[in-house]
Amino acid sequence: MPTTTWNRHHILSLADFSAVEYDTVLQTAASFQEVLSRRTKKVPTLQGQVVANLFFEPSTRTRSSFEIAAKRLSADTLNFAASTSSMTKGETILDTAKTYLAMGTDIMVIRHREAGVPNAIAQEMDRLGVKVSVLNAGDGQHEHPSQGLLDLFTICSLIDPTRPRIELLQGKKIAIVGDILHSRVARSNIWSLTASGAEVHLAAPPTLLPKLFADYFSEETAEKSLVTERLALSGVERSRSAIPNRQLFLHWDLEPALRDADFVMTLRLQKERMTAHLLPSLREYHQLFGITRSKLKLSKPDVKVLHPGPVNRGVEISSDLMDDPEFSLIQAQVTSGVAVRMALLYLIGSGKV
Ligand code: CP
Repeated sequence: MPTTTWNRHHILSLADFSAVEYDTVLQTAASFQEVLSRRTKKVPTLQGQVVANLFFEPSTRTRSSFEIAAKRLSADTLNFAASTSSMTKGETILDTAKTYLAMGTDIMVIRHREAGVPNAIAQEMDRLGVKVSVLNAGDGQHEHPSQGLLDLFTICSLIDPTRPRIELLQGKKIAIVGDILHSRVARSNIWSLTASGAEVHLAAPPTLLPKLFADYFSEETAEKSLVTERLALSGVERSRSAIPNRQLFLHWDLEPALRDADFVMTLRLQKERMTAHLLPSLREYHQLFGITRSKLKLSKPDVKVLHPGPVNRGVEISSDLMDDPEFSLIQAQVTSGVAVRMALLYLIGSGKV
């Protein structure tokens, strides 16, 4: 394991991550990727610690990969699902978290449909003066930091599997396409990919990519703009990183985003979060913004496609492209998720015992 200093107690957002922190996560994940290729895939690093997966919203990939990551580190794991918990009898979120604290939990991994819940639990743990760390596993439309970091790891380790690092993305063009308005994955990825020096191009219909979206990521305007405040999410601290010169471009059609792209990240249409009629039809959306083999001809010949999952096959990406290993990194993303989540649990957990 790389010897490293890590000072972050909770992982709630990538907004204030430094270049050194990104590289520490990438290098630690690469070490765990090597561990996971061995016959014995387990290390004793978090023996005696308890990792509680508190998922108040459904998940397949994130919940299961945090669980296997914790088990590979020899931690004890607790899995909570809101639908089968005492929340159905009226228990509050904070009382649920305190119940897990009383059982000796060291790390809480939290997913919630409302932005700000992991932050609120982290603040409560700090107020109580306990050493429990909180990891945001996706909160509403705010952020999904572990997804952003596993996407970064997937891309960087494709370029240099032995030493993934953010400088490898300098000058690369990365398109993020789809339901950006509702996407916490996009929000985390915009922080990490622009911090790496990549050019990030967002493409979506105007209803799913408001013009003012860019202000949220701009250090100068973010603190002043009242309209941006409306995009900001209650209960979420909006500290800003000091990484200058982020390159973020917005497009309301696909072509300029795909042209000469090195990587194309397509996002799920989040129908469950759409409160208005934002699209004429899924068929028209697929025609205009769905990623297909023929549209990818605009991109670099060795372009790769990512999707955080779950996928609406034939809507945001054509089914054949999704399954084509020449283009698709979708399965690699899931595999990377285990090593990256081991790295995050290790970095915040190894100082506790
Ligand atoms: N990418 C992602 O968060 O997937 P799940 O909802 O299945 O965890």
